[in-house]
Amino acid sequence: DWTPGHFIEQEVAKIRELVGDAQVICGLSGGVDSSVAAALVHKAIGDQLTCIFVDTGLLRLHEREQVERTMGQHLGIKLVTVRAEDRFLTALKGLDEPEAKRKAIGHTFIDVFEDASAKEGKDAKFLVQGTLYPDVIESVSAKGGPSATIKTHHNVGGLKPDMKFQLIEPLRELFKDEVRNVGRELGLPEEMVGRHPFPGPGLAIRVLGAVDPVNVETLRRADAIYLEEIRAAGLYNEIWQAFAVFLPVRSVGVMGDGRTYEHVIALRAVTSTDGMTADWYAFPHEVLARISNRVIREVKGINRVVYDISSKPPATIEWE
Ligand code: XMP
Repeated sequence: DWTPGHFIEQEVAKIRELVGDAQVICGLSGGVDSSVAAALVHKAIGDQLTCIFVDTGLLRLHEREQVERTMGQHLGIKLVTVRAEDRFLTALKGLDEPEAKRKAIGHTFIDVFEDASAKEGKDAKFLVQGTLYPDVIESVSAKGGPSATIKTHHNVGGLKPDMKFQLIEPLRELFKDEVRNVGRELGLPEEMVGRHPFPGPGLAIRVLGAVDPVNVETLRRADAIYLEEIRAAGLYNEIWQAFAVFLPVRSVGVMGDGRTYEHVIALRAVTSTDGMTADWYAFPHEVLARISNRVIREVKGINRVVYDISSKPPATIEWE
C-alpha cells in the first residue's frame, strides 16, 4: 500500500545510495513541487544539498520572504537567494506575445541559474527537480508534434541538454495530491503544502501584453487582496487556483466629482483535479463584492474589477 511515510523512507534510501557523499543543488520556485522535492532530498542528505531561489521580480507579494522563512529558517536547508529582477525585466523589454515572453523568461532563468549554480554548486554532481507525473506525461505528448504543445511550460530548472548535472526527480511518479501528503509528512507547513499552483513565468503572464514594472506591482497588490479575502472566507482549499490578471485596457469610472480613466483587474478562480480541465468557481456574491470594493479602493490605478466565467476548455486557466 502506498503511504507518504513509506514513500519517504524508500526515496530517502534511494537518494542516499545514489548520491553518496556528492554535493547536490536544487532550484526552489516557492511552489509545492520544488519545496517538497527539496525537503525530501534534505531529509536524505542534509547539508550536502544547497537550494537556489531566484527572485525574478515576477513573484507574488512576500513570496521571497516566505520561502526564506520556511525552507531556510524552519527546515534548516542551505538556501541561496539570487536577486535577478533587473535581468528579467530587461529580457522582457519590447515583448508582448505570450510565448515570446515565456521563452525570454525561460532563457533568462537558465542563464541566472547557471551563473548561480556555477558559483554555489561548482562541485555539485546532481540537480533536484520537482517533476511530477503529469509533467512527465505532458512533455512526452508534447514531443508528438507542435499541435500537442498548447503552451510551453517553463518549469524551474528546465535546463540545457548539455548540462553537467545528473537529475534527481523523486516525485516523478506522483500526482499533486500525493505530493502534498508527502510534504505534510515531511513537516512542511500547510500554507506551503496547500498552495495553489503558480506558473514558472509568474506574474509576467498575468500582466497581459507588454510587461511594465508598475503594472506588475499593481497586479501584485490586487492579487494579494484577492487571496487574502479568499482565505478569510475559508474558501482557499476549495479552489484549485485563484489569481488576479492585469488587463492593459482602461475604462472610465467616477470618483467624487471626478472622472477616472484607469486599468481593469480580472479575477480568475477555477476548480480542477489536474489542471487539464477546469470549471470557473462560483463564489458567493458577497465575497466577490468585498474583493471588488477592496481592490478598487486600495489599489491605485484600478477602477474596475471583472470576474472571469470561462471554463477550460475552451479557455485556458491562465490568460496567456
Ligand atoms: P493553462 O493556462 O494551460 O494552465 O490552462 C494549466 C496549468 O499550468 C500552469 N501554467 C504554467 N506553469 N509554466 C508553468 O510552470 C507555464 O508557462 C505555465 N502556463 C500555465 C497554470 O498556472 C495552470 O496551473
